[in-house]
Amino acid sequence: ALKDSAKFPVGVALNVGNELGDLADIQESAALIHQQFNSIVAENGMKMRFLHPAINTYDFAAADALVSYARGHGMMMHGHTLIWHHDSQLPDWMKTYQGDWQAMLRDHVQQICRHFAGKLKSWDVVNEAIDNKLPDQYRATLFLDKLGPAYIEQAFIAAHEADPTAVLYYNDFGMEAKAEKLQFMLDMVDDFQRRQIPLHGIGFQMHVSIDSPNIAQIKSALQAVAARGLQVRISEMDVRLNQKQKAATLNPALAQQQKARYREIVSAYLQSVPPAQRGGITFWGLLDKDSWLVESKPYPDWPLLFDDQGQAKPAFWGVLEGLRES
Ligand code: G3I
Repeated sequence: ALKDSAKFPVGVALNVGNELGDLADIQESAALIHQQFNSIVAENGMKMRFLHPAINTYDFAAADALVSYARGHGMMMHGHTLIWHHDSQLPDWMKTYQGDWQAMLRDHVQQICRHFAGKLKSWDVVNEAIDNKLPDQYRATLFLDKLGPAYIEQAFIAAHEADPTAVLYYNDFGMEAKAEKLQFMLDMVDDFQRRQIPLHGIGFQMHVSIDSPNIAQIKSALQAVAARGLQVRISEMDVRLNQKQKAATLNPALAQQQKARYREIVSAYLQSVPPAQRGGITFWGLLDKDSWLVESKPYPDWPLLFDDQGQAKPAFWGVLEGLRES
């Protein structure tokens, strides 16, 4: 099993919580989840709109159910995500909030971190705060607009106060692909380290295709963070195959390419990040049909380790081989 082949957490994102469906929906796959993984992330259920649906109103019921499910099966949990600008997960009330933004976000972070203290090992404190098109600046979000870039460090400080034992991550995508984006993130890290802002790790989402970013880019990005003494996670991995070609099936040649790609990235992680700094690898969904790529794109894709029937794909064996090389 994957989890037995690694000395770090091997996780899967599950789309449960509140409007998203309850734990019953994953019962079919439960055996596979327990067998292969020792870590869970809520794909959506711990995002802002679900945990903080109205001003000063927190709803932890669905997330708590997932936490106790994980605990009951000996799995750890990583929290995703305290602060993210994305329209689909921002609570509507926050979009028009007129009060004290700094106090409100501080309360948001602290209520949630306190609630889960001792239950979640780590958090994505801020997600995707660096612009992707202009990767030498912070992304223009509601938070940047209200508070300037200080909202980022304020979130880390608030989280650390509320749960001093949680490992606190900045999480983003495309930092391997774009040198300016990587550099901008590293400059932020260096600045935080100089000023002792409690940032403990970087999550590389790793939503990649077969050939991009190339493996040298991936290694050097992982190494640059590892060199700073931080924890490194591969936080949302998937390997998309169908690059707008509208292919109707996953052919064996493509499946083998995907296997090799998963394997080389897992190996790159092991080669680039020293054991004590490995926060783990999480795959962004269990079955191909559950993938956000399938849900959100107009063409089919097969980005994950298991097919729609829960059978291991070549991709699964690629990951296993990559892990066992260590
Ligand atoms: O909540 C509604 C629900 O009420 C409705 O019935 C349903 C019908 O489609 O939609 C639900 O919302 C969707 C939600 O996923 C839950 O399935 C949103 O429209 C949809 O935009 C949302 O997409 C998620 C996306 O983040 C935005 O929050 C994806 O599932 C999730 O995989 C994706 O994950 C992100 C990470 O959090 C951050 N990094 C990138 C990654 C991929 O985009």
